[in-house]
Amino acid sequence: MSVHVAILGATGYTGAELIRLISRHPHLSIRRLGAHSQAGKAAGEVLPGLSGDLAAMPLLPADKSLSGDIDMVFTALPHGAAAACVKAALDAGKKVVDLSADFRHQDKDVYAEAYGQPHPHPELLSQAVFGLTEYARDKLKGASLVANPGCYPTATLLPLLPLLKANVVDADNIIVDAKSGASGAGRSAKTDLLYCEANENVRAYGLPRHRHTWEMEEWACTFSGQKAKIRFVPHILPMTRGMLATLHLKGDNVAAWHGILSDQYASEPFVHVLPEGKLPQTSGVCGSNCCHIGISVTGSDEAVVISCLDNLLKGAAGQAVQNTNVMYGWEETLSLDTIACWP
Ligand SMILES: NC(=O)c1ccc[n+]([C@@H]2O[C@H](COP(=O)([O-])OP(=O)(O)OC[C@H]3O[C@@H](n4cnc5c(N)ncnc54)[C@H](OP(=O)(O)O)[C@@H]3O)[C@@H](O)[C@H]2O)c1
Repeated sequence: MSVHVAILGATGYTGAELIRLISRHPHLSIRRLGAHSQAGKAAGEVLPGLSGDLAAMPLLPADKSLSGDIDMVFTALPHGAAAACVKAALDAGKKVVDLSADFRHQDKDVYAEAYGQPHPHPELLSQAVFGLTEYARDKLKGASLVANPGCYPTATLLPLLPLLKANVVDADNIIVDAKSGASGAGRSAKTDLLYCEANENVRAYGLPRHRHTWEMEEWACTFSGQKAKIRFVPHILPMTRGMLATLHLKGDNVAAWHGILSDQYASEPFVHVLPEGKLPQTSGVCGSNCCHIGISVTGSDEAVVISCLDNLLKGAAGQAVQNTNVMYGWEETLSLDTIACWP
C-alpha cells in the first residue's frame, strides 16, 4: 500500500524533517512539496540535503499542491496560514496532519486568547484529534484531521500526565522551566536569531504567558481530569535542535513517582524513563523520536522531573509520522526507529 503525500511548508525546518522521515517510509510516498516565498524553485535549491528525484521536485504554491492523486497532507506552516490549507485539504477529501497550532485547541476563544487573533475556521475544531500519540491512539485510528502537539507541550505533558492521573502532584503549583534550540523558532529570518545575537547567549522569551501555556493546561486537564495551573518560562539556547523541560513539582508520595512514570511508559517505543539517579540530556535524543524522562527527589514533598526531546522530531515531524502510522494502523515505529545522533 502506498499513501501519496503532500508536504506543505516543505522548505521550513519541520517540513525538511518530514521529507527526511517520509522518504524512508515503506508506505508513504512524497508526491508534492509546497512552499510559499520559495515556490517556483526546485526543492534541491532550497534544501541542501536532497539529491536525485527529491532534489528535482518543484516547490509548488499551497493551492497547487493538493490536486490529483494526493491521499494525505502534512501542513508545516505558520499558525494562521495553516488553517486555510487544512480546510482546502479536508474539502478535497484528504487526511491531514497539521503541525501548526491552528487545531490544537478545542475552543475558538482559547485559540483567540493564546494567539491574539480569531480562529480562521472554528467549524473544524471539533473534528481535530490532539495527537499526543501515547494518549490518543484510539481517536487517531481513522481520524481525518490530527493536530500535532507543540514541542514544549509534548515535553511537558509526557512527564506530567502520569503524575496528575495518579493524583500525587499539587496541580496548582507546577513550574516548567524549559530550553529549546534555535530551530524551534523556524527558518524565517529574525534579527535576534542572527549568529552574532544568538551565539554565546541565553534568554527567556514569550513572557508573561507564552502561548503554549494554554495548550499545556488544556490538555493536562483533558487527559488527566485535573485542572492544572502551570507557570511556564521558555528559553532559547545557542544550539540547533533539542529541548529540555525541567518540571518543579510538589506533591505526595514522591518516592513512588519514578515507579509511576516507569509503569506508565514501560511498553512505549519512544518514551523512556531513565533509571533512578540518571538525568536526561538533549544529546541523548537529538535525531531520534524519543523523549527521555528523569527524576530527582529534592525533598519530602517535592521533586524535579526533567524531560528531553528533539523539537523537530518528537516535538514535531517525528510525532506527526508516529500519528500517521497510528491513523493508518501501521507499525507505530515505521521510519522512526533510529537512535539519537551522538555525539
Ligand atoms: N520548529 C519547531 O521546532 C516546531 C515544533 C513544533 C511545531 N512547530 C510548528 O510547525 C509549523 C512550521 O514550523 P517550522 O519551524 O518548520 O517553520 P519555518 O521553518 O519557518 O517554515 C515555514 C514554512 O511555511 C511556509 N510559509 C510561510 N508563510 C506561509 C504562508 N503565509 N502561507 C503558506 N506557507 C507559508 C514557508 O515557505 P517558504 O520557505 O517558501 O516561504 C516554509 O516552508 C509552525 O506552525 C510551528 O509553530 C515547529
